[in-house]
Amino acid sequence: MQRIQTELARVMKDKIRTEGPMTFRDFMSASLFHETYGFYTKAPSIGSPVGPFDTNAKFTAFGFAVAEAITQAAKVIGGSIRVLELGGGTGQLGACIVSCLSIPHEYVVLETSSGLRAIQAEKGLKVVETLQDLMPAPTVVFGNEVLDAFPVHRVMGMGDEGVRELFVELDEDGEFCERPGAVSNQKLLQRLQEEHIHLGRGHIAELCLEITPFLQGLERVVKPGYIIFVDYGDKASNIYSYHHRNGTLRSYYQQQQIHDPFFAVGQQDLTADVNFTAVISESTSLGLEFAGWTSQGAWLKNLGIRNWVERGEDFYSRQREVDVLTGAASLGSTFDVLMFKTPGLPDGPGLHARS
Ligand SMILES: C[S@@+](CC[C@H](N)C(=O)[O-])C[C@H]1O[C@@H](n2cnc3c(N)ncnc32)[C@H](O)[C@@H]1O
Repeated sequence: MQRIQTELARVMKDKIRTEGPMTFRDFMSASLFHETYGFYTKAPSIGSPVGPFDTNAKFTAFGFAVAEAITQAAKVIGGSIRVLELGGGTGQLGACIVSCLSIPHEYVVLETSSGLRAIQAEKGLKVVETLQDLMPAPTVVFGNEVLDAFPVHRVMGMGDEGVRELFVELDEDGEFCERPGAVSNQKLLQRLQEEHIHLGRGHIAELCLEITPFLQGLERVVKPGYIIFVDYGDKASNIYSYHHRNGTLRSYYQQQQIHDPFFAVGQQDLTADVNFTAVISESTSLGLEFAGWTSQGAWLKNLGIRNWVERGEDFYSRQREVDVLTGAASLGSTFDVLMFKTPGLPDGPGLHARS
């Protein structure tokens, strides 16, 4: 398919012409968060009901179950709590969760995109741009599909030459292309080493270094509390296995999955599987405790999502929502739930079936 020459593509090409090749991480960061033309900056209609991709956020049943998790966590923490939603998207999920909560709480959304912050505020949500705006407090953090939007470096196995990083530059026709160069940050090699990942010749892997400072920021403000991530990902040995030798980077343009990250720069979403091994090891090294990991389907069932079906008259449409969210052939197994807690708290909500 012919690439679309977007405004952001023009801006990025000019930058490469004047400053030279850039890491894929910097390219992805600009594609998603450029101050004017970034995909998220322009406030896309994430989770739109049109198109083949279901997302959790558009289902009321999901908000109901997350509110139940927050309520259970709040009871354990005691007193009034802060709920911190990470990357609130269109604010639909946040508004839904707030409408289901009957505990004393303050609801805050952390959002990078200025366009999405405005839409979330219109929905009545309190929004902050950075974790620096928050003081330490009893908190339940919840993030649905946020870590998968963090910019990633791309590295490639080069046989005897070791590992190289992929940089974005321009080919002889002035089009974006990727070329290997020396790694921009030794932490990339360190991460591969720590996780015992060997990349064979031509094997590409995405690595996210952003999670470390992000988790540090969360650890500072969650005193005490729980941190709950819902995302697609896996342990490092699976994500970086030969099965994913071209990496897990993918892209969505107008609700269609496409493979070219340069197809419509700034108009397409870019995302990669989350390395849960790295999230767990970084969190625990900060002093957080790993509370557990389960499939979304099991988590929602343990939280009693089926109660939501019985609370309305539109039984069949409610049942369908629950089936999509929990089914092994749909979102129930697409997404996993990773949970962390500050020391001393019991295991988090929904990790175990209630007897
Ligand atoms: C894939 S969307 C998911 C949105 C929403 N949670 C949902 O489920 O529909 C990713 C969201 O995370 C936000 N985001 C990405 N990186 C972020 C960061 N470092 N801090 C806060 N928000 C971030 C994006 O702007 C966007 O709102």
